Amino acid sequence: MTIFNLGSVNIDRFYALPHLPQPGETLSASNYSVGLGGKGMNQSVAAARAGAKVHHIGAIGQSDNWVRERIESYGVDCTYLHGLDYNTGHAIIYVDAHGENTIVLDAGANTQQDTHCISKAIETAKSHDTMLLQNETNLQPQAAELALAKGVRVIYSAAPFSVEAVRPLLPHVSILVMNAVEAEQLCSEMGVTLDKIPVPQVLVTLGAKGAMWRSNETGEVIEVTAPKVAAVDTTAAGDTFAGYFAAGLDLGLSTRKAMDWATQAAALKVTRHGTADAIPKAVDVAAFQAS
Ligand code: RIB
Repeated sequence: MTIFNLGSVNIDRFYALPHLPQPGETLSASNYSVGLGGKGMNQSVAAARAGAKVHHIGAIGQSDNWVRERIESYGVDCTYLHGLDYNTGHAIIYVDAHGENTIVLDAGANTQQDTHCISKAIETAKSHDTMLLQNETNLQPQAAELALAKGVRVIYSAAPFSVEAVRPLLPHVSILVMNAVEAEQLCSEMGVTLDKIPVPQVLVTLGAKGAMWRSNETGEVIEVTAPKVAAVDTTAAGDTFAGYFAAGLDLGLSTRKAMDWATQAAALKVTRHGTADAIPKAVDVAAFQAS
């Protein structure tokens, strides 16, 4: 089975800081590095490292060959990754001494994709495949609608969170993934409780506490806890979770097992600096789980 991921590709620029900057403050970074990222790409890399077959649907600047080569080196298929006459998206990421971050984004090519390229990719999907989406590209509702109409499982990882972005997706989503703050925000904006969000399944990540899944069709609830770790960088932990979770379901795991696996992978990720480049392989997750 295959995961089709319509997602962002960013060049991530990391600045290690003693604390996150205050308005008007000038700070010196103790370290600077550049890597591959974007919520979409992080999720594609996580799913590929988990062992799933992944087609990334996206766009980068046409001269950034190293980006494409890096993505391919992680086992993500780039057939539907288009080179456009725009800059590759980029992110400025401040990481403080406790591993917390602040991110500034420039979308670049991520939001310049055209319907034709996306539908060409989704046309090849089969009903047992999975479509993954986040909120860093254009054409999310159109892609979700096309995929769901083909019977594909549609997982929407609603980050970066915006109520305006998530609303049009709701009729076309099988599993809505949010963190606890986002879930609370969505419920309060819609004036409903979690069980009344009009999607078949909701999955709420709870950071160091684990995750909670709910079927809004049957009322079944699954909760998993996360292992305790010393976090050095929480960036892309949610993406690692979403990619591993999607891969788990795609590879035939039960929802609980996929959640457990994703929670372990995300916990291991936060012990490493970086984003896509730091996402653990399945073999490392297995060793971590056993330890
Ligand atoms: O979730 C982390 C990601 O958010 C980074 O890789 C950055 O590119 C932004 O998209």
